[in-house]
Order: sequence, then structure tokens, then C-alpha cells
Amino acid sequence: MNLPSVEYKANHSQLLRTLTMAKQLQARRLDGIDHNPWVEFVRLSKEYDTVNLGQGFPDFSPPDFAVQAFQQAVSGDFMLNQYTTAFGYPPLTKILASFFGKLLGQEMDPLKNVLVTVGAYGALFTAFQALVDEGDEVIIIEPAFDCYEPMTMMAGGRPVFVSLKPSAPKGQLGCSNDWQLDPTELASKFTPHTKILVLNTPNNPLGKVFSKTELELVADLCQKHDVLCISDEVYQWLVYDGHQHISIGICSPWPRVASLPGMWDRTLTIGSAGKSFSATGWKVGWAIGPDNIMKHLRTVHQNSIFHCPTQAQAAVAQCFEREQQHFGQPSSYFLQLPQAMRLNRDHMVRSLQSVGLQPLIPQGSYFLIADISDFKSKMPDLPGAADEPYDRRFAKWMIKNKGLVAIPVSIFFSRPHQKDFDHYVRFCFVKDEATLQAMDERLRKWRVELQP
Ligand SMILES: Cc1ncc(COP(=O)(O)O)c(C=O)c1O
Repeated sequence: MNLPSVEYKANHSQLLRTLTMAKQLQARRLDGIDHNPWVEFVRLSKEYDTVNLGQGFPDFSPPDFAVQAFQQAVSGDFMLNQYTTAFGYPPLTKILASFFGKLLGQEMDPLKNVLVTVGAYGALFTAFQALVDEGDEVIIIEPAFDCYEPMTMMAGGRPVFVSLKPSAPKGQLGCSNDWQLDPTELASKFTPHTKILVLNTPNNPLGKVFSKTELELVADLCQKHDVLCISDEVYQWLVYDGHQHISIGICSPWPRVASLPGMWDRTLTIGSAGKSFSATGWKVGWAIGPDNIMKHLRTVHQNSIFHCPTQAQAAVAQCFEREQQHFGQPSSYFLQLPQAMRLNRDHMVRSLQSVGLQPLIPQGSYFLIADISDFKSKMPDLPGAADEPYDRRFAKWMIKNKGLVAIPVSIFFSRPHQKDFDHYVRFCFVKDEATLQAMDERLRKWRVELQP
């Protein structure tokens, strides 16, 4: 038997040693945000033999043209191994300005209206740091992608939550667009301290696609109260059943009159190459907006990460060049991906129902939430801490006993609202055929166990 060497023991005890300081170690801006519920679910998904339908990443290859673009970026021009322009590799900012300029009907300067970031995460963080000050209020529409709250707090701001609410009775098969904002409640959240409203359409985790009327309501309130909008549109290509993604940046609460400012002047539109080209590991994202807002994001970016990896940017530039040529045609990946994901969505909806999970049909994104009210009434006492929301206990039970990973939806709600939304779990359907079949197999076994 090999005993650990003296050297190993010394190094090991060094690793276990914890620094204690008379001063507070961590910066105060981390207070209240140092617990992340995702960590536990990622760990559990690895610890048990599971089919992972939790995290939002494709488990299939990006399209061939994207893979080739990356290979070319790595093996081609040696200068792609070096620094590039801070705010974005010029061919990428150029094509993003041209592509989104057409979509948003807005003349764009690649140097002034586009910033390339480390994923959409990077764009969001840069925006919060650049625009939110101590005491500023940030309205977050929940359920919400879970980084908006800590990013607001790290910048010194105060998150103010307003919930979308389901209009269909509990347990009945509905769709994500049944979840609506109450216009009076939304209006009541605006105060003289409100600086920003964060919008996410199509929404994660619901899959709701905001309608023009809803966007006009939001736009109207932003205009009235002089508030900026951060519009997270990373799932913009993933819309189904004839629904249309609309960018709030093109909304004007009044008839478009050139002399009146519309939402473009107060909106940052955020996108992700990871979501657009099924390549989440590339971590290329962007923020698009008017120069007088973007210049503050550039200050943060310049003084934090400076710029994003050149080769990944070069590959994304090529992907957009290709998409621009194919846009609107059957060969466009932005058409092919939603077509394929609609089939996955329908497959998953059918399968989940077979064990009594009640999926809500999402109009967009690659997530769906399923109502677990029936389980809550039939097996209310699942193991877990007394104050732990039911959906978290259910998700852990499902991992351990059924080998399926989903994410409890209460983590997408602020603490005071979690108890009202503790009977849903989120499934991700941007998955390979083999993964969906593995899911079916687990559900088949579950169905057998349900039989009396
Ligand atoms: C709504 C939303 N915004 C932003 C992101 C982050 O995107 P990226 O991977 O490009 O950083 C995600 C990732 O899941 C998301 O769901």
C-alpha cells in the first residue's frame, strides 16, 4: 500500500487551511447572493444515473457551417490568435450592425451601436454595471432568468418584482401565453427611483412570447416614467405555432413619428451566439443600442475584460454572414432550428403527460414548465427541509427515484413569491433524439410503477 508522502500531506493541509481575517473577507456587494441553487442540481444530476433535461444547452453538434467556421478561425489567419478591437472583432460588429440594423429598422454604426461580450451573460453584467447606481430600482418580470436579481444587487440596485400570472386554472393543460402581466400591478411598480425594466422574450423558463400589445404596455410605462429597458432576446429565433418575436426596441408607444423618440432610444437589446447557433460554449454575445447608452457599457467592458476571444468572434461573424445570405429561406438555421425544436417540444409534451405531469405548451424558447400540482396533493410529504419549496423537493425526488433532471421553477421567482409558484418544474427540450428516447424509457418505467 502506498502511504501519502510527507510532501503530499503538507500540500493537502495547506489546501484545507482557511484564511480568517479581522476584516470582512468578501465585498459587501456579495451579501445575500452567495447561495446558488443550481449548484445542488448540477451536482445531483452527476451523482445519480440521470437523463439531464435540466440545464439549457443542446446536447447535439452545432450546424456544419458553424463547426467549419470555428475550425477555419483556429487554423487560418494566425492573427486571429491575437488581440482584436476591444469592442468587437470588426467583421463581427459589422455584420451584427447590418443584420440587426435590418431587423430593427435602424441605421447602425458597428463602432457605436454594437458591443461584443462574453456571452449574453457578459452583456447583461456590463449593462447592469454601467447603468445601475446605488438605490436605483430595477423592475424584473418573473419568472425570470436567475442572474437579473444578483446582477442588480451587485451594482447596488434594488430589484422590484412583478409576476406573470397564469390565467388558466391550476392543473389544466395550458400554454405559456396564458401567463399575463396585470397592467395595474405593473404600473404600480414604477417609482421616481426606477431606472431599468428587464424584459425577456421569449421568456426563460416559461417560453412565453410577449405580444405586441404587452410590449406596447411596457414601452408606454418606460416612456412615461423615463426608464431604460434591457431586453434579453437570446431565444429570439425559437418561436413556434406562427407566433412572432417582436423586439421592444422597435416599439413606439405613439404612431411612428420621426421627431418623437421611440423605444430604440432607451433599449439595450441582448443576444447570444451560443443560443443562436447551438454553441453555448463559444460564449459570444452582444448588446445593441443607441450610442449614448452603449458608450457607458464600453467603459465597463474596456476596464474589465477588454475583449472576447478573437477566434470565437471570427467564427460567429462567418455564421452571421451565412445566415444573412440564407435569411428567410428554408436553408436558414434560424428557421431550421425552431422547426426541429417544435417536434422536440411536442414529443416531450406527449411523453410527460403519460405520467401525470401537466406541461404548459411554450410558444418560444427551448424550455417548458410542467405543473406538478397532482403530485403535490398525492405525495405532499417528500423529504426535504421544512421551509423548502415543494418543487425543489419534487425535483430532487425525481432525480433520485426516476433518473430525470428538471429544474424547480421557484428558483426563477423572488423569495417572497416562491411559495405561490412551488408547483412547477422546468424541462429543457433542446436535446438529441437519443436523449429524448432515454427520457421516454425512464417515463415508461415510471408509468409501469404507477399501475395499481
Ligand atoms: C434568458 C437568458 N439570457 C441569457 C443567457 C446567457 O446566455 P449566454 O450563454 O450567451 O451567456 C441565458 C442562458 O441560459 C438565458 O436563458
